[in-house]
Amino acid sequence: YECPYPRVSPQDKHSFAYVTLIKRWPTILPGVINTVSNVNHELHSQSSPEAQDKLTEGKAIISKISALKHDMGRNGQLVDIENDGQGNVDCYNRELATFTGDQRGWSHVNWLFAECYLYRRLRNFFALTKHWRDFDPFFPSKAETYKSSSAAIIHLAKALNTLVRRTDLSQDFEREGSALEIAFLEMVQADLWGNATDLSLLVDLKYEDLQKLQAVGAAAQAEQAKYILRNDLPKVWEYLKTVKDGRLDIVMDNAGFELYTDFILADFLISCTPFVKEVVFHGKAIPWFVSDVLPYDFTWAIDSLLDVSFFASASKPPKEGESEELKTLATRWKSHLSSGKFKLSVPLDTPLGDAQNEEIGGFWTTQYSYQDLPKVAPKLLEELQKSDLVLFKGDLNYRKLVGDAWWPTTTPFEEALGPLKGKITLLSLRTNKADTIAGLPEGVAERLNKEAPDWRTSGKYAVVSFCEKHES
Ligand code: F6P
Ligand code: MG
Repeated sequence: YECPYPRVSPQDKHSFAYVTLIKRWPTILPGVINTVSNVNHELHSQSSPEAQDKLTEGKAIISKISALKHDMGRNGQLVDIENDGQGNVDCYNRELATFTGDQRGWSHVNWLFAECYLYRRLRNFFALTKHWRDFDPFFPSKAETYKSSSAAIIHLAKALNTLVRRTDLSQDFEREGSALEIAFLEMVQADLWGNATDLSLLVDLKYEDLQKLQAVGAAAQAEQAKYILRNDLPKVWEYLKTVKDGRLDIVMDNAGFELYTDFILADFLISCTPFVKEVVFHGKAIPWFVSDVLPYDFTWAIDSLLDVSFFASASKPPKEGESEELKTLATRWKSHLSSGKFKLSVPLDTPLGDAQNEEIGGFWTTQYSYQDLPKVAPKLLEELQKSDLVLFKGDLNYRKLVGDAWWPTTTPFEEALGPLKGKITLLSLRTNKADTIAGLPEGVAERLNKEAPDWRTSGKYAVVSFCEKHES
């Protein structure tokens, strides 16, 4: 799809794409090297041939990552990705072939393509080995942040369990300001601000800021509401009231706390409302943008709630009785999984890379915008059309919805969806961490440019955008 506006590119030195190229990727890549080195360090003391073999492979991975970082820093070229049998190689190489000369340089290639390519290329270094094929270099940091979110996790567990225990919650829910409506707004906003917990942004954001952004509870959310620059939640509520026993799809973003808030919203809709009876979750097949959900992360997040020792070492461990709340929650989620009310779109134990060849699982780790979804992944579109609401979480999903282009900020959100407009009913919950944005009311961008010049990328502002399917 040809966007009428240019894609964000690091050639623009005022863009966040440029900041990413010169500052963020050069921080993320050494982080990966560090994680591999830590494993290598352990291997040094093991004398088995297998350990030594793995050590040699580990060292080779480190050299490849260092070379990649070096290339980026001196505007080297993006090279073809070697075939590693895990799919989604041709789509990158085909597009690369359309760039000639300078256009192939790291400082020139449009940001969305380059960033997706980066994670696919990184995966390739691991996929080509024997001993590191299932290694997720980002897992330790995902686990650490999940643990340090214990206070918000416990708060939400108590809040949702209380709602589930109430028998009168959905009484009279159509009335304006009903208890169910208020509870819905609280759960959905927790899921929105859960997106602030994105590890690829921790490079820029202080951890204390992040905990503040994990806004839970009515008061914290009211405080945060002024940071929602476009808020379609009233429309979403009106729409949901017309749905009965429907299907919700969640195109997930980050593992750990954000995933937890996805579960909270999904469980709330199933257990407390008449609207939804099943939720299909879509994750990534390979480690992606640092913290995105892989099949392993999905079950791990639930299992950790049941593992008393996991949160016991957190800075704010559960108090007396609070572990019980977590257990109640996790047991209910496990039963949703076994009854099929919660479903991952690929089998729960899919190894890394295995879902890449399938059009349905693999599309999410291609470079394509969702504007191209009707053309590039018609089977996936057909699947999503069975859903009553498709929820797209987070910043990267938003960038892909609007093609990561420099839309005038007041362009209607629907228009920015290009060919995806009206094909599915969709809701995007995004905290702003990249340049692109559409659908804002007149004057908002101008005001913020003066008041908070980093409003597009600081992660402190958000947009909630909804668009309904039109029968055609
Ligand atoms: O803001 C930097 C960035 O890496 C963007 O490239 C990307 O869109 C975003 O972070 C990832 O955020 P999220 O996890 O919300 O998609
Ligand atoms: Mg992410």
